[in-house]
Amino acid sequence: MEKTSQISGFYKLTPKERAKFVKDFAGLTDQEVELLQSTGSLPLDLANRMIENVIGAIPVPLGIATNFRINGVDRLIPMAIEEPSVVAAASNAAKMARAKGGFWTSSTGPIMMSQIQLVGVPDPNRAKMQILENKQRILDLANQQDPMLVKAGGGARDVTVRVIDTQSGPMVITHLHVDCRDAMGANAVNTMAEKTAPLIEQITGGKVYLRILTNLADQRISRARAIFAKEALGGPEAVEGVLQAYAFAVADTYRATTHNKGIQNAIVAIALATGNDTRALESGAHSYAARSGRYGPLSTWERDANGDLIGTLEMPMAVGLIGGATRTHPIAQIAVKILGVKTAQELAEVMAAVGLAQNLAALLALATVGIQQGHLGLHSRNVAASVGAVGDEIDIIAAKMVEEKRVRMDRAKELLDELRKKKT
Ligand code: MEV
Repeated sequence: MEKTSQISGFYKLTPKERAKFVKDFAGLTDQEVELLQSTGSLPLDLANRMIENVIGAIPVPLGIATNFRINGVDRLIPMAIEEPSVVAAASNAAKMARAKGGFWTSSTGPIMMSQIQLVGVPDPNRAKMQILENKQRILDLANQQDPMLVKAGGGARDVTVRVIDTQSGPMVITHLHVDCRDAMGANAVNTMAEKTAPLIEQITGGKVYLRILTNLADQRISRARAIFAKEALGGPEAVEGVLQAYAFAVADTYRATTHNKGIQNAIVAIALATGNDTRALESGAHSYAARSGRYGPLSTWERDANGDLIGTLEMPMAVGLIGGATRTHPIAQIAVKILGVKTAQELAEVMAAVGLAQNLAALLALATVGIQQGHLGLHSRNVAASVGAVGDEIDIIAAKMVEEKRVRMDRAKELLDELRKKKT
């Protein structure tokens, strides 16, 4: 009989019942099902309350980047990521920054915006003015939706309106600016947009369709800067190399995309560790990088009068400390405790500092020894383990392969056979 993925009531099953279905569908073994459901620090019933149709969890390594000094305070940085070398690279760059005091950061307020899309008004500029004339009514109604946020010192702060031309005629787009305090804010601003939309229809006589936050969080910007002493980087040649790498990113979108990916390695890893919405950050970062109409690097690099390297980073950082997975995931809570941040703004600034460090590490490696060298250590251990090496065999084989600059499965197997022959 042909298999079907159309199952009614799958969502009503327990995770175990769902796993049984998936087992039959995909031909999983008992052992595989057991692995799927050994969810460790995220209990299966908790996972089941976080998203739909849960059958298990996928653990991701959690590493700690060391050496960070940010605004005069030392911090350990939890990073959840599957890619080798990222945590080591961030730690190295942070160490290099220490000679000149580490990282300094700042940020705007935690302002998110929602968009309310209004169509069907023949005179869009008049509608714009009518909405703005009623700004206080709109703000009051928005704030009635979230008394907790208002009590915490946040709430709807401003209304701005844009008239845009689209393929289906002019649209009047209302932006509701909301101070989200320590929340990421998606729920708050989406609710406010939905609840104020009828008032906007009433004021203008138009019709509202979409009511949703924008991930281009350009009112919620986080900034970091650092000085990297030329001696810490390996000399003036290294400084020149990073500047050449930066010039390449400014001039070329293909390169700028990868340049920013390196920054996102840090941002997304901290976001994942702290239970934040990684996709919101990704989309915000990349559209911010293209805000001039041309995609460019999120960081800047320059040389000071002393010949040292100055790095800056400025980007949207929509993260929260309350609500969502940050509150429910037990490991996210521990990650926040390790970071020692007390506000969402503090978290956002730390993330910018680590993003800048990550960028420096990548550019420095790329402009000098190349990126593969850093990867080699961990990669060689993985290759050794994948051919069956265990315990200290892994270290011995990995070291040998790195020394020979031949990190390959066939060589690992040969070395393992030799090692075991010697032992017997
Ligand atoms: C790899 O994950 C990140 C880099 O490609 C970033 C960059 O090229 O700047 C090394």
